[in-house]
Amino acid sequence: MDSSQITTGPIGVFDSGYGGLTILSELRKRLPEYGYMYIGDNARAPYGTRSFDVVYKFTLQAVNYLFEAGCPLVVLACNTASAKALRSIQQRDLPRMADPTKRVLGVIRPTVEALDRLSVSGSVGVFGTQGTVASRSYELEAAKLHPDFRIYTEACPMWVPLIENGESGDPGADYFVEKYVRALLAPHPDIDTIILGCTHYPLLYPKIRAAVPERVKVVRQGTLVAESLADYLLRHPEMDVRLSKDGQCEYLTTEHPDKFGEMAGMFLNETITARNVSLT
Ligand code: DGL
Repeated sequence: MDSSQITTGPIGVFDSGYGGLTILSELRKRLPEYGYMYIGDNARAPYGTRSFDVVYKFTLQAVNYLFEAGCPLVVLACNTASAKALRSIQQRDLPRMADPTKRVLGVIRPTVEALDRLSVSGSVGVFGTQGTVASRSYELEAAKLHPDFRIYTEACPMWVPLIENGESGDPGADYFVEKYVRALLAPHPDIDTIILGCTHYPLLYPKIRAAVPERVKVVRQGTLVAESLADYLLRHPEMDVRLSKDGQCEYLTTEHPDKFGEMAGMFLNETITARNVSLT
C-alpha cells in the first residue's frame, strides 16, 4: 500500500483535566506539523486521590474514545494515569483490540530516562499526586534505568484542586506550595533536582520556583516528553505515516465546553473552542 492510501489520524492526548495542556503545548512546539486531539476529563478530576481501579477504568474509557475517533497513538499526559493504567492498557487491553497496532505512551518513563542529564548529586525529588506517589512508579523506573539514584517523593494533594479551580495565582496558594516544598527538602538537603511529576504542576511553576532554593533545578516534563515522542516517531516510521499532519488541534472535555475554553485559553494564551464528550 502506498502512503497516500493510509488513513491518518491525530495524536490523542489525555489528562484528567487541564494539566495535560502543559504537555500538549510542548508537543505542539516540538512537533507542530502533527494533528492533535486533547481530552480533559474535567468532570471527574482530580484523579490523584482515586483508587487504582477507578483511574484505570476512566483512562481506558478515554483511550477507547480517542482510538474510536481515529487516533492511532495516544499520549497519557497524566502521571497518575501513566502510573496506574498504562501498563495494564499496554499489556492487557491493546493486544485484544480490533486494531492491536495502536499505541499508548506515558510520561513517567521519558522523564526518568532524562534524570542522569539533570541531576549531579543523584538525589532527585518528585512532587506528584497521592496516586503517583503511592504507586512508587518513579522509584521503580529509576531502579531500572539509574539504580544508583535516590528518589524522594512528596504528595501534594492540594495543588491540583487549586489549579482546576483557577486559583493557582492567588496569594492563598503560597501556603500550600511552601508546605510541600519544605516537607520534601528539609529531610533531604542533598536533592539538586525536583521533577514536577504531575502535569498540572507547571501551572503553579512561578510559585514553586520562588519557594525552592536557586541551587535546585525545578523540571517541567513537557519538553522531555516532546523530545521522547519525536525520537519515538523517528524510530517508528510505520506509526508516523499513520499520523495526520495538518497542524490542527481539537479540544474535548467532559465538563462544560465554555468553562474549558476559558480556562484552557488562559493557560495556553490563545482562544480555545472546546466540545463536550461523555466517556463511558
Ligand atoms: N495531571 C495529572 C497528573 O499528572 C493528574 C492530576 C489529578 O487529576 O489529580 O498526575
